[in-house]
Amino acid sequence: MFCTRIEAQAPAPSGLSLPTQDRVQTRGWWPTKGAANLADFVGTSECAKCHEREAIAQRGTPMAQAAAPAATSEILEAHSHLSAQRGPYSYELLNDGTAVKFSVTDGTNSLSATVAWAFGLGHKGQTYIYKRDGDFYESRLSFYKTLQRLDLTTGHTGSGPEDLKIAMGRWLDPVEARRCFGCHTTGSTTVNQFDTSHATPGVTCEACHGPGASHVAAMKRGEIDAGRRAILNPRRLNPVDSVDFCGACHRTWADVILEGTTGVMNVRFQPYRLEDSKCWRRGDARLTCIACHNPHEPLVLDTAAYDQKCLACHKTTAEQKTVAGDKAQASHPGARCPISTRNCASCHMPQVEVPSVHSPFADHRIRIVRGN
Ligand code: HEC
Ligand code: HEC
Ligand code: HEC
Ligand code: HEC
Ligand code: HEC
Ligand code: HEC
Ligand code: HEC
Repeated sequence: MFCTRIEAQAPAPSGLSLPTQDRVQTRGWWPTKGAANLADFVGTSECAKCHEREAIAQRGTPMAQAAAPAATSEILEAHSHLSAQRGPYSYELLNDGTAVKFSVTDGTNSLSATVAWAFGLGHKGQTYIYKRDGDFYESRLSFYKTLQRLDLTTGHTGSGPEDLKIAMGRWLDPVEARRCFGCHTTGSTTVNQFDTSHATPGVTCEACHGPGASHVAAMKRGEIDAGRRAILNPRRLNPVDSVDFCGACHRTWADVILEGTTGVMNVRFQPYRLEDSKCWRRGDARLTCIACHNPHEPLVLDTAAYDQKCLACHKTTAEQKTVAGDKAQASHPGARCPISTRNCASCHMPQVEVPSVHSPFADHRIRIVRGN
């Protein structure tokens, strides 16, 4: 009976998580959609002229630095010579200040290539992308911060590859290469043509908000309403759409189901984990990604800073009395923790180590953690 009452007062089901491949087919902008014209992108420096606060803060986020031309990678500046041995193969990554060379040898034969891009800011890991005969490859080894050295790239197998070419890296078919750059850079695909020569490294303003030329033009003419309509403000999305929005790159619930990823790797896909929490139920604005994270600012690492987000629903008994009749509170049973009044996430969103990434992720499936 109790449950029925809660259901009746729950927010109307706002929709279902959709696969990103469906989202990008619909009209209007969606992150990773590659249909826009190159000429419609104006670049962060243009946005900064009117939105200085967002522009200054966003520059320092890992998202803004999710990819970099290899020679400008901070890791490769600090470690200009990296080497590793795996089975019969010796690897070397050499930054001479103008170019980065990645090479592998089995003692008899060698292969080498100039690294074009460094993917990942590297506070977890950094993977190197190089080109051979016009195709993109992903380096078999990546740099890991916790190890401070090269080790196997996530997804690559440890068993010794038989040939040098495979020992060096994995061929990315054009569809996959396009997807990598779609999530780690801005404007790499325009009018459905994938071309990294005009990609802006990292997830910048227009990767999320869409190309801004019409918005800027309207704002310069003083047409505020038209200007607002010309750019996506994700704040207006309903809770499910809002989480799917971040999920365009962090993987939506439906993306994970489609991809069939199982086991501990799923912990990397926060939208999937979050929407599997009892807290989420059918969606609630108090629990979207942007309820806890400001996408323009670096991740907050102080666990206690998230307590207020939990307490928006899980009030203590004393507080509940004072908010009797509070509509927001009425949509929630208000269970309070018998164990603690602070640092909620430390126990209910524990850090889970993903072995192949050599670093932990906060498990967004909020729950009482028993065993697993
Ligand atoms: C010529 C000034 C100008 C430039 C350049 C500009 N904006 Fe705006 N923008 C505005 C104004 C004015 C508003 C409406 C008032 C406000 O929310 O600050 C606005 C609002 C917005 C909004 C909220 C829209 C809404 O629904 O209310 C977003 C998102 C936005 N801008 C993003 C961008 C991005 C991304 C860029 C760069 C591609 C950009 N802006 C460049 C002036 C500008
Ligand atoms: C266009 C793709 C894209 C979209 C859209 C996107 N992200 Fe990200 N995000 C990334 C990538 C790539 C990284 C990894 C950056 C790295 O570590 O190199 C990342 C990392 C992060 C981080 C981790 C920062 C850290 O310190 O480790 C947070 C938090 C985050 N994103 C939140 C969000 C939120 C919230 C949204 C939705 C408002 C969102 N992201 C939408 C691509 C995206
Ligand atoms: C659907 C979007 C998407 C695609 C496609 C994608 N990434 Fe990412 N990548 C992310 C997000 C989001 C993160 C941050 C969360 C995480 O670390 O899993 C990330 C993190 C990373 C990191 C940081 C280390 C780590 O594992 O957290 C590296 C390196 C990386 N990606 C490389 C690549 C490469 C190389 C490709 C293509 C072969 C690729 N990514 C394809 C979205 C994507
Ligand atoms: C990872 C995705 C992401 C990136 C990158 C991003 N934004 Fe946003 N932006 C959002 C989301 C989500 C919102 C709505 C929630 C909020 O206001 O924090 C938003 C809101 C805004 C707003 C409206 C604020 C308001 O008060 O309604 C402006 C203006 C804006 N962004 C400008 C920018 C500019 C300029 C950049 C580049 C420097 C940028 N954004 C980069 C996701 C992003
Ligand atoms: C939008 C409101 C909302 C927010 C925000 C919220 N929760 Fe919940 N939470 C719920 C609801 C609803 C339930 C399910 C109650 C039930 O079915 O018994 C729940 C259940 C739980 C449970 C019990 C789950 C289980 O496995 O039985 C825990 C633990 C919990 N929440 C902790 C948290 C923590 C910690 C946070 C902050 C990180 C948080 N919640 C944020 C609404 C919320
Ligand atoms: C109830 C608050 C809450 C919500 C909602 C939430 N997060 Fe988090 N998130 C956290 C906490 C807490 C951490 C861990 C911070 C730390 O490492 O100290 C975190 C960490 C992250 C990280 C860093 C990598 C990791 O997994 O540790 C990413 C990326 C991220 N969140 C993305 C998202 C996305 C995308 C969404 C929406 C699906 C989301 N978060 C929703 C609280 C939240
Ligand atoms: C030290 C670890 C720890 C911290 C910190 C913590 N919890 Fe808990 N929480 C637990 C454990 C363990 C249980 C299960 C208790 C049981 O069932 O005996 C629990 C139970 C709960 C429940 C379920 C209660 C019920 O009656 O079903 C909720 C909701 C909850 N916690 C929310 C929170 C919130 C919100 C915070 C922060 C204000 C928090 N917890 C801080 C460990 C913790």
